[in-house]
Amino acid sequence: MLRKSKKNAHVFRQMKETKENPSKLVCVTAYDYTFAKLLDESGVDIILVGDSLGMVVQGNSNTLSVTLEQMIYHTQCVSRGVQEAHLCVDMPFMSYQVSAREALRNAGRLVSEGGAHSVKLEGGVNIARTVEKITSSGIPVLGHVGLTPQSFHQLGGYKIQGKTVSARESLLQDALALEDSGAYALVLEGIPAELAKAITDRLKIPTIGIGAGPHCDGQVLVLQDILGLNTDFKPKFVKAYGNLNELVKEAITQFSNEVKSSKFPTKEHSFYAGS
Ligand code: KIV
Repeated sequence: MLRKSKKNAHVFRQMKETKENPSKLVCVTAYDYTFAKLLDESGVDIILVGDSLGMVVQGNSNTLSVTLEQMIYHTQCVSRGVQEAHLCVDMPFMSYQVSAREALRNAGRLVSEGGAHSVKLEGGVNIARTVEKITSSGIPVLGHVGLTPQSFHQLGGYKIQGKTVSARESLLQDALALEDSGAYALVLEGIPAELAKAITDRLKIPTIGIGAGPHCDGQVLVLQDILGLNTDFKPKFVKAYGNLNELVKEAITQFSNEVKSSKFPTKEHSFYAGS
């Protein structure tokens, strides 16, 4: 089937270059078919199968143990729910760091087996050659700089980045290197708003912020955080737009009470021979 959606890497780049459509990019994570379909129907621009699934789906304390096979599986599930949105997938830890050649092969699998439209890699100058290899082979790349969760051990935890003059300069160089390597947009995570603005003003490609203030060309959040499903993780940059945690518990408690008191199922929800 020919996909005619206007939500693609080429259009996202052009949106900023030509300033034709000043509306901001909206990116939300998804890991399964049901939510992917809901996000798609809600008009989200980019659905990201984030390796944050290691935390919110698998219950791990970081993203490092997520495998390429798991990312392919979740991307397949999500892609069945996507009609209009652009589908981007995280390349998991160690699927792109060893060599550009291996990175290209793995990016190819996420696209051909998973159904992704683009891949996301964490890093800057250090991965620029790899990003160039992937983009020049026809696979769009979303960059990711600042607080890069796969470098959690190296960064000494989930800390705001770009606080010193030299850190700010090297983040700007990272962003420029990714743009030069052909990335269509950049996620800026966990950096001061002023630095995010400076990078956004300097780049020709859009920036998508998470914990990076209001000046980015778009914003991304983890689905579970937007829905208020995750009550034990509430960093400053997260805004919950619902309280699904309470709603889910209420619904399950009601179901449970009705089963225990034999109120469910009634005739209405039962089959009878001959009717
Ligand atoms: O893994 C993820 O979900 C992400 C976003 C939060 C940007 O990288």
